[in-house]
Amino acid sequence: MSEKRNIFGSKVGMILATAGGAVGLGNVWRFPYMAGENGGAAFMVIYLGCVLLLGVPCMLSEFIIGRHGASNTFRAYSEVGNGSAWKYVGFLGVLTGFLITGYYAVVSGWCLQYVYASLSGELQGDATYVTRYFQEFSQNPIRPVFWTIVILLTTHFVIVHGVRKGIERFSKAMMPALSVLLIIIVIASCLLPNGWKGMEFFLLPDFSKVDSGVFLGALGQSFYSLSIAMGCICTYASYFSRQTNLLKSAVQVSLIDTLIAIMAGLIIFPSAFSVGANPDSGPSLVFITLPNVFNQAFSSAPFIGWLVALMFYALLSLAALTSLVSLHEVSTAFFYEELHISRKRGAVIVTVATCIIGAFCSLSLGAVKELEVAGLPLFDLFDFVTGQIFLPLGGFLTCVFVGWYVPKKLLHEEFTNWNTLSGRCFGAYLFLVRYVCPVAILAIFLHQLEVI
Ligand code: PHE
Repeated sequence: MSEKRNIFGSKVGMILATAGGAVGLGNVWRFPYMAGENGGAAFMVIYLGCVLLLGVPCMLSEFIIGRHGASNTFRAYSEVGNGSAWKYVGFLGVLTGFLITGYYAVVSGWCLQYVYASLSGELQGDATYVTRYFQEFSQNPIRPVFWTIVILLTTHFVIVHGVRKGIERFSKAMMPALSVLLIIIVIASCLLPNGWKGMEFFLLPDFSKVDSGVFLGALGQSFYSLSIAMGCICTYASYFSRQTNLLKSAVQVSLIDTLIAIMAGLIIFPSAFSVGANPDSGPSLVFITLPNVFNQAFSSAPFIGWLVALMFYALLSLAALTSLVSLHEVSTAFFYEELHISRKRGAVIVTVATCIIGAFCSLSLGAVKELEVAGLPLFDLFDFVTGQIFLPLGGFLTCVFVGWYVPKKLLHEEFTNWNTLSGRCFGAYLFLVRYVCPVAILAIFLHQLEVI
C-alpha cells in the first residue's frame, strides 16, 4: 500500500464526521413530511424505536466490520469473512456508494445554485415564477452540470487532504456551522405569525394515522437517513481507533441525525403554515415550495426573508457536502487500496467518474431525452436501483453475515473493546441483528416494491 493508513484524531472529530455523513438531504426533505403526514409525535416515537432497535444494531455491525477490517469496505468484508464470498456484499456497498455519489452530487449542486440564486435575489417572485425557475434550471443543459462539477471538486479537495486533515478537520468546522444555521432558522420560523399551528401539526401525536405502512415507512427512512448499507459507515469505521466505544458512538450518531431531522421539521412546518402552504417532500419541497414560503412569510421584512433563504440553502449545501464527502471516501478508499495507487490518484478516478455519471444524470432530467432506461431517466433509475434494491439487499446480507457467519468471539471483542467495556447489551445486539433486523429489512424491501 502506497500510504500509511490514518485514523481519526479525536473522538469529537470522529462523531462529527460520521454524523456529517449521515445528516443529509433526507433529514430535511423527507423526514419532516413523513412525520407531519403520519401522526406527528406518534410517528417520531415509532421512528425513534426503529432507529434504536434496528438502525443502531445495523450501524454497529458496519462499525464492527469496518474497524476490524481496517480497510475499504470490500476488503473489510473479505477480512472479516476470511476471504469467502461475503466480500461481494462489501463490494455491493462500494458500488452502491459509488453510484449514489453521482446523482447525489446533482442534487447537492442544485443546493449550491440556490445559494447563489438567493444571494443574487433571483428567487424573488410569485409561486408560478419559482416553479418555472426550478423547472428551467434543472432542465438546463449547462448550469446544473456546472454546479455538479463544482460540488464534486469541493469534495475532492477535502478528500485529497486525507482523513485527519481533510475529512475530520472539515467536519469539525462544518457541523457546528450547520447547527448554528439550523438553530437561527428554527427560531426565525417558529416566531412567524401562525408558526405555532405548524408546530402543533408537526408535533402533536395522532395515533389514528398509524398503520403498518407508517411503520415500514419509518423503517426505510431511518436506514436511508443513517446511511446504512452504502459503504459510508463501514469506511469511516475503518478509521476508528481501538478505544472507540462502538455502541455508544452508534447511539450518538443516530441521535444527532434524528435531532437534526426534527429541527428541520421545526423550520418547514411553522414557515409553511404561516402562509397557508402545504408542505410536501423531495425536490419540490426544497426547490419550489420553500423559496415561495420564505418570500411570502417574510414579505413585511424582505431583508430577513432574503437572509433566512440564504442561510437555509447554505445549511442544505453543507449537509449535502458532508454526505458527499463520506460517499466519495467509500470509492476513493476502494480504488487506492485495491489498485495500489496513491490516495490522490484514487480520488481523481472517483471525481472524474462521478462527474461523468452526475452530468449524465443531470442531462437525463430534460436536456437529453435519450438518457432513459426502461422509460426512466437515468437520474431516477440510479435513485431506484440504489435506494430501493441495493440498499435493502446490502443491509439484509450484512445482518445475515454478522449475525450468522462472523464468529461470536470476534463480535464480542469488538463490542467490548477486547473486554475493557461492559458487554451487558451484547446479547440484545446479537438477537436484534440475527432475527429482528433481517426480517424488518425484508419487510421494507417488499413494501417499497409494493408487494406488501
Ligand atoms: N443519509 C443521507 C441523508 O439523510 C443520505 C445519504 C445516502 C448520504 C447515502 C450518504 C449516502 O440524506
